[in-house]
Amino acid sequence: MLTKKIAGILELHIDMTAQEIVPMLEQPPHPEMGDVAFPCFLLAKSLRKSPADIATELAASIQESEVTAEAAGPYVNFFFQRSTAAEAIFAQLSHPDFGKLTIGEGKKVVIDMSSPNIAKPFGIGHLRSTVIGAALYRMYEIAGYSVENVNHLGDWGTQFGKQIAAYKRWGDDEKLAKEPIKESLNLYVKFHDEEEHDQTLGQEAREWFRKLEQGDEEATRLWNYFVKISMQEFERMYKRLGVDFDHVLGESFYIDRTEGMVTKLQESGLLIESDEALVVPLEEEGLPPCLIIKQDGTTIYPTRDLATAYYRREVMGADEILYVVGAEQKLHFQQVIAVLRKLGEPWAEDCIHVPFGLMKFEGRKMSTRRGKVIFLEEVLDEAVQRAREIIDSKNPNLPNAEEVAEQVGIGAIVFGDLKNHRLNEINFSLKEALSFEGETGPYVQYTYARIQSLLTKAAENVPGGNTRSFISLDKISISDAAWNLLKHLSRYPDYLEKAVCLKEPSILARYVIDTAQLFNRFYHHERILDGEPQELEYKLLLAQVSGERIHQILTLLGVETPERM
Ligand code: ARG
Repeated sequence: MLTKKIAGILELHIDMTAQEIVPMLEQPPHPEMGDVAFPCFLLAKSLRKSPADIATELAASIQESEVTAEAAGPYVNFFFQRSTAAEAIFAQLSHPDFGKLTIGEGKKVVIDMSSPNIAKPFGIGHLRSTVIGAALYRMYEIAGYSVENVNHLGDWGTQFGKQIAAYKRWGDDEKLAKEPIKESLNLYVKFHDEEEHDQTLGQEAREWFRKLEQGDEEATRLWNYFVKISMQEFERMYKRLGVDFDHVLGESFYIDRTEGMVTKLQESGLLIESDEALVVPLEEEGLPPCLIIKQDGTTIYPTRDLATAYYRREVMGADEILYVVGAEQKLHFQQVIAVLRKLGEPWAEDCIHVPFGLMKFEGRKMSTRRGKVIFLEEVLDEAVQRAREIIDSKNPNLPNAEEVAEQVGIGAIVFGDLKNHRLNEINFSLKEALSFEGETGPYVQYTYARIQSLLTKAAENVPGGNTRSFISLDKISISDAAWNLLKHLSRYPDYLEKAVCLKEPSILARYVIDTAQLFNRFYHHERILDGEPQELEYKLLLAQVSGERIHQILTLLGVETPERM
C-alpha cells in the first residue's frame, strides 16, 4: 500500500509508470532513514545527470501534504505523515480479503507430500516433507489455487518380498501388533543379516514378490497387514501434526498403469535394451539413463512415478504437480521429468520437484541402518515433555497445561523446521527450538498469548470491551515502535506472494518472527492500557491486528496458537 502510494506520486514527476516504479522501490535499511526509498541510478543514463543530482531535484519538486521527500545521496527517501497513512493501513488490514491472493485462481495444484514407506520408520525426511508440504498446501489455497495433496506411500517393490519372507520365518504377531514399525524393521534387518550366509532367503523373497505381483491370496493378505499396521502408526503422527490427506494412493495403486506406460514408451521409440534391462537414454539431457524395467522384468520407482504423473494430470486434472521430496532425489525427478519431456508432454514443465535439505537431530542422522534409528514419535514426545517442564515452571497454574504443552512442543518442531530456507541443512536442537526467547515457534506463540491476555484485560477495564471499531487518528502521535509495526503489517501481501511463488514457507516464518519482535518492542515501549480513550483504542486495535496476523500465519505454517501459555 505504501509503495503504491509513492509510485503514484513519482509517476507524475518522472518518465515511468507506477507499475514500473513499484518493483524499484526499496525499504531503507534503517527506519529512521524513511519509509520508502527510490534509487535514482536507473534514471542517470536517460537524464544524463548523476543519480545524486537527480535525487536532489526530484525531492525538491515533490510537494505533497501526506508525504515528505528527502534526498540522501542517490536516493529519494519518503516519509509518510503517520496518522493519515495509519488510518489507511488500518482500513486495509481490516478488509476481509486482506492476506488472500488471486494468483492461483482457476488453477489446480497436486502436492505429493509425506510419502513414507510401509514397514519402515517415518523418517526425518518424511517429517520435513509433511511439514513443508502441509504449509505449501495452505499457502497455495490462500493464494486462490484449488489444492489436493497425495500421500504417495512407498508400498510396492521387491522389498516386500523380503518383508514377507522374513515374516514367514521369524514373524511374531504379538510383537508386531505392539510395535509394528520397530518389529517390521527388526525383521528386515534380520533378513539382511541372515541373507549373507543363507542363499535360499533371497530366492524365497523373490518368490514372494512374484506371488504378490500375481495377486496370490496369502501374499496379498500379508502385504495388506503390513500396510495396515504401518498406516496406523503414521496416522498417529499426522494427527499430532494436524495434517490431512485428500488422497492416500501408494505406489501400488499405479501398478495397473505401468504396463500402459511401458507400451507408450515403447511406441514412442524411447526404450532401449541395456544389460538386459529396459531404459530411456537421456544422454542429450546430460543425465544417466532412466531405468524402466529391471533385468528380472519388474518395474521400478521411476516407472511408477511416470504412470503417476499421467494419472495426476489426466485423471485428477492437475495444472501443476509439486513433489515435496528431499534433495537427495534430485536426479530421480530430473530423469522422470526429462522422460515426460521426451514423450512430448508440454506439462512436463509443470511437474516441479520442491527439494529440501537434510535435517539432523542434535547432530544425529536418522537412518534405517541398524542401531541408528531415531523414531519420530520419540522426538515428538520429548519435545512435548520438555515444553511441559517449561510451562510448569513459568505458569504452574495453567489449567490446560497438557494440551498447551502438546501445541508448544509440536509447534517448536514444525516452526524450527520451517524457519529455515528449505534447502539448507538443519542441525535441529530441541533446546534451541523450545526457547521462549529466540526466533522460535514458542516465542511467536507466547507473543500471541500475550496479545490475547492484553485484549482480555482491556475488555474488562475499557468501555467498548472486546470490539474494536476503528476511529480517527487525528490528534494521535504515532511512536516509532508503533509505526514500524504498522508498516511491517501493511507489507504482508508482498511476503505472502513471494513465499508462494518461491514455494518457501520460511519467508512467512521469518515474517512472523519479525512481527512478534516488532510487536514486543511496541509493547515494551508503550503503556498500551493507558492513555486517552482515542489513543487507547488505536493501540488496542494495533495489538488486535498484530494478533490476527500472527494467528493467520502460524495457522498457515501448521503451528497452533494457544490463548494462554
Ligand atoms: N517413498 C519415497 C521415499 O521415502 C518418497 C516418494 C516421493 N514421491 C514420489 N512421487 N516419488 O523415498
